Amino acid sequence: MKLFLLGLFLLTSLTSSCQAQTADPQGMAPMDSEKILIVYLTRTKNTKAVAEMIHEQVGGTMVELELVTPYPENYREIVAQVARENESGFLPPLKTKITNLDQYEVVFVGFPTWGMQLPPPMKSFLTENNLSGKTVVPFNTNGGYGIGSSFDKVAELCPNSEILEGFSVRGGSERDGVLFVMDGEKEVEVRQEVEKWLDRLAF
Ligand SMILES: Cc1cc2nc3c(=O)[nH]c(=O)nc-3n(C[C@H](O)[C@H](O)[C@H](O)COP(=O)(O)O)c2cc1C
Repeated sequence: MKLFLLGLFLLTSLTSSCQAQTADPQGMAPMDSEKILIVYLTRTKNTKAVAEMIHEQVGGTMVELELVTPYPENYREIVAQVARENESGFLPPLKTKITNLDQYEVVFVGFPTWGMQLPPPMKSFLTENNLSGKTVVPFNTNGGYGIGSSFDKVAELCPNSEILEGFSVRGGSERDGVLFVMDGEKEVEVRQEVEKWLDRLAF
């Protein structure tokens, strides 16, 4: 009887694990969410909202980039500082350290467009952390002028990574006093766009 029950148990476990494999529409093994890292930079929380939408669908670990010396609150001052940093190539030191980078196979990197470029703190992150051999997936929010050179810069700083199709959406426009916009209908729309994009990438 014991032997019969053991056999039945083994048979059911085998069948259910086979079902889990075939449930994936792409026929690929589902990505283990422990291997996914979502790193993002945000000031007025629009990019953070997109990071959360990605997290809802793929899971993984979310990390917000923090600086040793935070940027000024004042919009004009931060614009001027970022312009100086972009000009000189200064990489602001990060407070955020990823200690277990080896664990991750896929790294989503999210950021706003700043001065039509990749923001200096994300340049710091991609310079400090070697993402060779990993899959890198950029995502962005911007004030309506697009990604500028930011996605190209991600590819340049990760020469030995596989870079997947990025996602970009209009966020706030601090210059015009428009800060957080990812709520109400906009949030619903953006979540749908994020889901479509992740489906295309087979996540
Ligand atoms: C310093 C700075 C520079 C910016 N430069 C641009 C830009 O060049 N092009 C653009 O479309 N938006 C620009 N923006 C607007 C942000 O990209 C936009 O508000 C974004 O959604 C902010 O994301 P966050 O809420 O995650 O901080 C800039 C914002 C700041 C603070």
